Amino acid sequence: MADILQIQRPATGAAADLAITEATIRATELRQFDIDGEPLATYDPGFMNTAVCHSSITYIDGEAGVLEYRGYPIDELAEHSTYLEVAYLLLNGELPNPTQLAEWESLITTHRMIPDKLKTVLAGFPYDAHPMTILMASTAAFFSFYPDARNFTDPEARALNIARLIAKMPTLAAFAYRKGKAKPYINPDDNYGYCHNFLAMLFKQAERRYSADPRLIRAMEVLFILHADHEQNCSTNAVRSVASSGNDLYTCASAGIGALHGPLHGGANEAVLKMLREIGTVDRVPEFIEGVKSGRTRMMGFGHRVYKNYDPRAKIIKRSVEDVFEVTGVNPLLEVAKELEKYGLEDEYFVKRRLYPNVDFYSGLIYEALGFPPEMFTVLFAVPRTSGWCAQYQEFITDPDNKIARPKQIYTGHRTRGYVPMEERG
Ligand code: SDX
Repeated sequence: MADILQIQRPATGAAADLAITEATIRATELRQFDIDGEPLATYDPGFMNTAVCHSSITYIDGEAGVLEYRGYPIDELAEHSTYLEVAYLLLNGELPNPTQLAEWESLITTHRMIPDKLKTVLAGFPYDAHPMTILMASTAAFFSFYPDARNFTDPEARALNIARLIAKMPTLAAFAYRKGKAKPYINPDDNYGYCHNFLAMLFKQAERRYSADPRLIRAMEVLFILHADHEQNCSTNAVRSVASSGNDLYTCASAGIGALHGPLHGGANEAVLKMLREIGTVDRVPEFIEGVKSGRTRMMGFGHRVYKNYDPRAKIIKRSVEDVFEVTGVNPLLEVAKELEKYGLEDEYFVKRRLYPNVDFYSGLIYEALGFPPEMFTVLFAVPRTSGWCAQYQEFITDPDNKIARPKQIYTGHRTRGYVPMEERG
């Protein structure tokens, strides 16, 4: 027997059987109920309970704290994989064989340089421009150099521009950082892998070869894997929404960067470090917690729309913190973070609201230990999330169900009224 939802409106006796498929009902089925001349709709700010697409890329079980990319558990990928292998998996649905991986890595290496004229875009920003603003504007500018990205229905053009964006994002991020430091740009070096090359473009000085501790390169690799995708989060929703009006990948990714920059989303990693610095010492944690409970502030890096359990990425990052500190020395703010987490996991305020550490709670401590200033933290989120945005963009473009995003509203303003001449206004 088909699974249905029987609904009726006692006021008029209207009734309908709505089909339940994939644990959802089609919202447009509600339109058959006429409510005083208006078709019945749903009101769902922030899409708290609304599915907008089918996707096979990332699965999250928020209750159990499970995260899988194409069915592979995040902790296994963090343990065994590399960021580029994960990017391939997100885009193609399967892990690459050795030949496929070699070809993919070679393709990415080929496209690491950014157009020289783009440096004039970077030069146009004030010296203290936020690197996320530079990243957002420069990513949109890529479309001027690669107009073939508008041929997104052509699989070859789409694949080429996806490779270009994944390859160029670290270069653009490193250039944005070096601009802020008034340092010369370091071009990509084909002798280095993706994450090693990123660190070299960021931190290389006059030395001929940039040597980084393998443990730090691995920590970057793991952080990139953890940040690669996260199903229909705020920035991915922005990418899909901008794609829905027929835009190229670069324009859509630029929108994703803008959404990610917000402190409630990817900007939280920068906000966490600012919070830890303001608290300063363990003995001031209780006072801060009281501020949170009174609603005066939020515990940044805590809480999640989907996870009502410990974010599995936060667990992995917390382990990586120890590995990085072995090389860089311990950041004293780690103790403040651990004390905050202890309160967060025990205090009724957090327990009742099922607030746990999320991906941003510990990541900033690693970034700071690696030598990044806080304003670069969300850039370090945007670089790996680019592969997720590309996979989600590709899935949207090829989804026969896709439609231009155009939600409804509940109108609360004035209805028709006459124009008031200036002399009659109060
Ligand atoms: C990311 O969606 C994704 O997948 C995102 C992400 C990804 O990989 O793409 O996982 C990355 O964005 C992680 C989240 C980073 N943001 C932060 O750490 C900022 C702090 N957290 C929040 O502001 C909040 O938890 C959100 C934005 C993450 C989730 O917001 P929701 O789901 O809309 O929940 P809410 O704001 O309605 O909060 C529910 C209750 C409220 O209290 P009451 O009104 O019920 O009394 O919990 C409270 C909130 O005040 N609350 C917090 C809190 N988060 C929620 N109170 C104190 N501190 C917090 N951090």
